[in-house]
Amino acid sequence: MSNAKIIALANQKGGVGKTTTTVNLAASLAKLGRKVLVVDSDPQGNASSGLGVSVKDMERHLYHCYLDKEQVVKTIRKAAYVSNLDVLPTHVDLIGVEVELMSAMKREKYLLELLEPLRGSYEFIFVDCPPSLGLLTINALTAADAVIIPLQCEYFALEGLSQLIRTIRLVKHSYNRSLKIEGLVLTMFDRRNRLTYQVAKEVKNHFKEKVYNTVIPRNVRLSECPSYGKPAIEYDKRSSGALAYMNLGKEFLKKQKSE
Ligand SMILES: Nc1ncnc2c1ncn2[C@@H]1O[C@H](COP(=O)(O)OP(=O)(O)O)[C@@H](O)[C@H]1O
Ligand SMILES: [Mg+2]
Repeated sequence: MSNAKIIALANQKGGVGKTTTTVNLAASLAKLGRKVLVVDSDPQGNASSGLGVSVKDMERHLYHCYLDKEQVVKTIRKAAYVSNLDVLPTHVDLIGVEVELMSAMKREKYLLELLEPLRGSYEFIFVDCPPSLGLLTINALTAADAVIIPLQCEYFALEGLSQLIRTIRLVKHSYNRSLKIEGLVLTMFDRRNRLTYQVAKEVKNHFKEKVYNTVIPRNVRLSECPSYGKPAIEYDKRSSGALAYMNLGKEFLKKQKSE
């Protein structure tokens, strides 16, 4: 029986590639034969729709699981075009969690409690976080064994990173002793832009071997495929984006073995 590793994809900056990395890394691992679940913990629901799980035909979603954890198994759906890959979909209603749980006891542990029983069914569970350090992200970090931080290779990439690292440390000390940083992944890399190399170098100086060698290039296929409900590997498997995420999947798996 497998014992899933839970990985949160977090960065309070929007548009850095959290959702793209969640969807495409999960799809690569599924393609490589691993049993994977994507938990869409961003009320915007881009990971759900990017995997072909549409909001309109959804009776239940993650918000209902927060209200009643018995709902989880019934809520899980299959990704539309990838086998081995399931989705715990979301809906804008999930925003309510940030307010409604504000004064609840153990408000940071809801997601952990609802994911714990699923560990036996998957090898990897990826949690796509919203662009904030609010309660949804805190729940993801409390549930997770490790965090992947996507960073966009641009001038302000490092801005806000220290706040994120502080939050990870805080959650580690308060709620989740075993939380680790799994890795940092550089996204939207533009080979023609010198600044990109500079940012990459700075991140590597600081985070050393935590930075994945695989870099995700800027590739229009990656931004087109979500509207078809497909990860890049299904939409255009020869595209540079699909190939990069497949390499990231392999590098990710190699790191698991060496742990
Ligand atoms: N490597 C890439 N190349 C081109 N477009 C990308 C790439 N990664 C992400 N995008 C696009 O950039 C936007 C933001 O990415 P997204 O993954 O949604 O970020 P986040 O989840 O951090 O907000 C989306 O429109 C997405 O399709
Ligand atoms: Mg997102």
